[in-house]
Amino acid sequence: MSNQYVEKVLSVHHWNDTLFSFRTTRSPAFRFESGQFAMIGLMVEGRPLLRAYSMASAVYDEQLEFLSIKVQNGPLTSRLQNIVPGDEVLIGRKPTGTLLHDNLLPGRNLYFLATGTGLAPFMSLIRDPSTYERFEKVVLVHGVRLVSELAYENYIRSELPNDELIGEMVSQQLVYHPTVTREDYPNRGRVTELFESADWYASLGLPAIDVEHDRAMLCGSPAMLADMKLLLEAKGFVEGSSSTPASYVVERAFVEK
Ligand code: A2P
Repeated sequence: MSNQYVEKVLSVHHWNDTLFSFRTTRSPAFRFESGQFAMIGLMVEGRPLLRAYSMASAVYDEQLEFLSIKVQNGPLTSRLQNIVPGDEVLIGRKPTGTLLHDNLLPGRNLYFLATGTGLAPFMSLIRDPSTYERFEKVVLVHGVRLVSELAYENYIRSELPNDELIGEMVSQQLVYHPTVTREDYPNRGRVTELFESADWYASLGLPAIDVEHDRAMLCGSPAMLADMKLLLEAKGFVEGSSSTPASYVVERAFVEK
């Protein structure tokens, strides 16, 4: 049996000229946990061309959703950005990844720190009731260069709080903080700067993050991950895994081309 199978594209949304998302059919046999990724791709010259993509859809969603950059000469995304409803995409049969609740020790507040398309796994996690059952507050920080890169902003602000299943938990527990670095926007600054700013925690009405109580999950650009790792470890945070749950986890599978 091949490692991949085929799903059909149902819709494509172009956020801007560097970012798009798409939804596909979902085989009932394709199971995953919130925060995981799968290998996704296309047949190119008779061979599968695949990259790691986090599932942005909820585990209970009947469709799958993925968020992708568009790189004009990127081997996969230069092609994938042209998909239209009815096209076929390849999906790896074995989802995996580290952004799992079971890799973290219990805690008070959970921080989701993302840049760019690193938002995707958190779109799944903020729609999972167990995220809200395990933590008091869930703080989603999404850092991007441009306002047009704030994918799902309206959905998170306006639709999710009214969701039949999780709207109430979202309204009471989710703190969403999109932040833009290269354009005017109400929230400015890098994720790393906010993380270190006493004023920022105060503006959210939260105590500053601390390892005794809080947990973090990271996904995004390698530079952000490297810097955040230093900042977290300076505060005593320890990277968790399935064998040794701890205070933070990082997803390093990230599509750059
Ligand atoms: P900046 O505009 O200051 O570089 P990219 O598109 O390069 O992946 O960046 C996405 C977002 O991540 C941008 O807001 C960018 O800020 C920010 N960023 C880049 N490098 C880092 C880093 N080392 N730590 C925190 N944020 C970063």
